[in-house]
Amino acid sequence: MDRPVVVVSNRGPLSFRRDGDGILVARRGAGGLVSGLGPLVAGTDALWVAAAMSDGDREAAAAGVVDAEDFRVRLLSVDAETYRLAYDVVSNQVLWFVYHGLYDLPRAPAFGPELREAWHAYREVNAAFADVVAETAPPGAAVLVQDYHLGLLSLGLAERRPDLAAVHFSHTPFATPTWLRVLPEHIAGEVVSGLAAHRACGFHTRGWADDFLACAREVLALTPRTFVSPLPTDADDVRRAATSPACDAALAEIEAEVGDRLVVARVDRIELSKNLLRGFQSFDELLDRRPEWRERVVFVASVYPSRGGVPAYVEYQAEVDALVARVNERWATPGWTPIVYDTSDDYPRSVAVLRRADVLLVNPIRDGLNLVAKEGGLVNERDAVLCLSREAGVWDEVGEAAVEVPPFDIAGTADVLDLALRMPAEERKARAELLRTLAAARRPADWLADQLAAAD
Ligand code: F6P
Repeated sequence: MDRPVVVVSNRGPLSFRRDGDGILVARRGAGGLVSGLGPLVAGTDALWVAAAMSDGDREAAAAGVVDAEDFRVRLLSVDAETYRLAYDVVSNQVLWFVYHGLYDLPRAPAFGPELREAWHAYREVNAAFADVVAETAPPGAAVLVQDYHLGLLSLGLAERRPDLAAVHFSHTPFATPTWLRVLPEHIAGEVVSGLAAHRACGFHTRGWADDFLACAREVLALTPRTFVSPLPTDADDVRRAATSPACDAALAEIEAEVGDRLVVARVDRIELSKNLLRGFQSFDELLDRRPEWRERVVFVASVYPSRGGVPAYVEYQAEVDALVARVNERWATPGWTPIVYDTSDDYPRSVAVLRRADVLLVNPIRDGLNLVAKEGGLVNERDAVLCLSREAGVWDEVGEAAVEVPPFDIAGTADVLDLALRMPAEERKARAELLRTLAAARRPADWLADQLAAAD
């Protein structure tokens, strides 16, 4: 059945701000979800419903459905404190931590009454989204709900709009049953039943879907319908970015910084699940144990701040900044900076880093997908070796082209970096070719087709 499409996500494809002349202008939004879904939705009739996250967004929300930059967007403005509790507290401090297994359990979490208030806000935000979807979705639409921010949305739709087919897709892992038990029981129950209320729940890998099914069996004694559909990279889009003048200029700048040295690279949000600290500790260990790499390798990290409203993220970034400074202080020589650390959120530069890499480090603790592993494979120009953690969702798709990184083992990761830096040209070439093939095997339209199939 050809259903009209409504995409619903917390972060939308556009963000709005007033320019110098006081005119409200739209800009393409940031983040993996938008770069993955954006090209699929742009230029179509699909409506994209998302939260207003800034003052400019809130002004745009008042205008109803806005057509801009190839998108039809309806932003939803909720009271700022209610939104903060739902996004910063429930979504990013609680659900995110439980789904990625990030709590340091002897110390955290220690839920108090504030979680009850925040959970109430989360319900309210989900209900407000359900209202907007119920009011604006065309008859019979497939409502493609994205991510953990909106897990309860479909509960508010079922009675009012039985013609709609809601599908949920998680861009994160799901909690294991053990981790789900960290949540207060009623919250765990609502989370699982909220997801199970969709026609189907999609995940990037079988492993995350199985974790969800195990939780659903434990909490609901039910087996909801699931499907597995890793988000593809839009190969044309990322190659276009890689051949842009802005990317060429950024690459020239990087070349001037690193010269003819080998480059270990990473491109990430500054995010606890990405495991930045152990990545830099491993590089420090490599320089310590393998003096021959000193002055011959540069770690180029293009990492950008994220979720500044969450104290754990602010603290994490401070720790990463301090560690990078310590490693550089320990090893730098005149003319060689071991870690070139850029936090400017500069997309052309990030793509240039992927082009220039000799080794790409993707070592998450646990991560939904890690699109960057595929993007790196598609734009790299030096047969870079992908050093990949099995805990990245993308492992199932491209693991056979990668060298496995043990995410919690600093000495082991240093060994993997050493091996990757020494890998003979022929093996690098074979792996890079395989990675290019695997990374382009699925097209964005395949992902959309999977969502629509799951709606029926
Ligand atoms: O990986 C899950 C995810 O929600 C992505 O979909 C998104 O791009 C990313 O996290 C960034 O999150 P935020 O919108 O909170 O910056």
